[in-house]
Amino acid sequence: MIKKCLFPVAGYGTRFLPATKAQPKEMLPILTKPLVQYGVEEALAAGMDHIAFVTGRNKRAIEDHFDITYELEDMISGTIRESQLNCVRNLIEQCTFTYTRQNHMRGLGDAILIGEALIGEQPFGVILADDLGVGEPDGIMAQMVRVYEKYRCSIVAVEEVPVEEVDKYGIVSGQRLDDQHIRVERMVEKPSPLDAPSNLAVIGRYILTPDIFDILRNTPPGKNGEVQLTDALQAQAANGKVIAYRFRGQRFDCGSIEGFVDATNFFFNRMQEQQ
Ligand code: UTP
Repeated sequence: MIKKCLFPVAGYGTRFLPATKAQPKEMLPILTKPLVQYGVEEALAAGMDHIAFVTGRNKRAIEDHFDITYELEDMISGTIRESQLNCVRNLIEQCTFTYTRQNHMRGLGDAILIGEALIGEQPFGVILADDLGVGEPDGIMAQMVRVYEKYRCSIVAVEEVPVEEVDKYGIVSGQRLDDQHIRVERMVEKPSPLDAPSNLAVIGRYILTPDIFDILRNTPPGKNGEVQLTDALQAQAANGKVIAYRFRGQRFDCGSIEGFVDATNFFFNRMQEQQ
């Protein structure tokens, strides 16, 4: 069983300025729930009840969200508003939350290495909360756990993207095992469309084996001067230890305005259908 899920949330979210000037982008809501809550729900549905955050300055609202708010809860006690907090109360009851900070924005790979103190020597999930996943029928991370149980190595979730967008993603290529699984041979971070080995893009869901920490420790800064998780995964892939998984469902890039609006419309339409 994979029990821990790491949420690197130290990024500045500059694409959403000024909304993210004084609040974390992970707290931006899709309807009434902040992005990060969708991510924690997905982790818990995959059996991961230890939620580890790598945070930064201006991110305290995330800690407060996963804690009791006495005055507010007292005020709405007994009113119809009370039930609106049930979903987050359930998470608080069922999960353990731990936090550490990344002091300097040195990239996603560096953020994950800092998370080692919270994870230890065990395989773990990673969710980038600004990628909002809607798995079919179950969550993307739950699907990935099943893939991990079969292959026992690092797993990355991938989807096809338009060729002109490959320079926004880590791109993989390798040996196709079946319709949904590829044994990764090459991984390139944000290649130009001409250099991209495919149009299969890694989205913000990973299961990583703990040897990734030693690899990250020895990974020099890469693209944009940041320690790239993609470079560390390439070292595992060289030993056949990374499986790319084409997940069932869809994902919204809520780190971009267009993806954020699409997600809002999707959940709004779903809510109306359910009423
Ligand atoms: P992004 O590339 O989306 O960067 O990071 P960002 O800062 O969050 O957003 P923009 O581009 O400025 O709008 C991908 C993920 O990696 C985390 C971010 O929090 C996000 O979840 N990250 C990135 C860190 O935790 N630390 C870093 O040094 C870099």
